[in-house]
Amino acid sequence: MSFSAQLAADAVAIGDYLDRALQAKGYAPVVQAMRYASAGGKRLRGFLVLQSARMLGVDGASAMPAAAAIEALHAYSLVHDDLPAMDNDDLRRGLPTVHIKWDDATAILAGDALQTLAFELICAPEIGPAEVRIDLARSLAIAAGAEGMVLGQALDIAAETAPAPLTLDEITALQAGKTGALIEWSAMAGARMAGKDLAPLRAYAAALGLAFQIADDILDVTGDEATAGKRLQKDAGAGKATFVSLLGLDGARARAAQLVDEAEAALAPYGAAAHLLIDAARFTISRRS
Ligand code: IPE
Ligand code: IPE
Ligand code: MG
Ligand code: MG
Ligand code: MG
Repeated sequence: MSFSAQLAADAVAIGDYLDRALQAKGYAPVVQAMRYASAGGKRLRGFLVLQSARMLGVDGASAMPAAAAIEALHAYSLVHDDLPAMDNDDLRRGLPTVHIKWDDATAILAGDALQTLAFELICAPEIGPAEVRIDLARSLAIAAGAEGMVLGQALDIAAETAPAPLTLDEITALQAGKTGALIEWSAMAGARMAGKDLAPLRAYAAALGLAFQIADDILDVTGDEATAGKRLQKDAGAGKATFVSLLGLDGARARAAQLVDEAEAALAPYGAAAHLLIDAARFTISRRS
């Protein structure tokens, strides 16, 4: 199967799984907001979970709760990222953001409950032995928390009011948390479930995560809002240093392409079995949304 066909199939399956999990929670407005926030998106993180698992011989059905878990956690991060106190955005995945469609309190609570849903899903018995689920849950908590995504988000918000723009090293450290940590967890999840060496997937995902954020910064400058489904041109407006402001557009594109080569090289131990993950890295820098 081609990468785009596999991503499309996985996106539908992950969306269905999440929606079934949320349907079981009733019809309160906060649950409706969770279903709304967890619909759509490219599902790249969920794909990385499923594909790293398949590549290492774990079947898709037992990896599915982990793929749904990371997409629930990612959806929470976006709902909170869009809040007025953070990026104050009114458009996400082509639709009004949760705090616009409902209100700030509902968006905060829906985000909170999407995060706890992620940990509920990662404990699902179908994933396998208890030790594997504990390892996945603990590593996800670390990736999402105060040394991972939350730290990156905090540094990103602090950069808006910093006296001087961040340096390239500072931006790289910020992204490793903000975007890198969840992408790394996703690609490494297959190795955790299979009980295999984490190192090749860690190296792949470190390069992929950085390429992903460079592409997000390029998209912010050159993208089209209707295609991207979110507000763009926000970074320069906020006076933020990004990979584009520091490297220029051509420099940022060249760095992203170099990182995709690094990501590909990291998967050499898996030979031809890695081709869909390699294509995922290429897609990451050519995407328009
Ligand atoms: C957007 O992530 C936020 C960043 C971490 C840059 P995605 O581009 O993966 O968003 P969706 O899930 O496809 O909407
Ligand atoms: C969001 O980064 C990252 C997380 C939610 C962890 P951005 O603020 O750059 O993402 P967009 O551009 O709003 O999607
Ligand atoms: Mg943000
Ligand atoms: Mg944002
Ligand atoms: Mg962005």
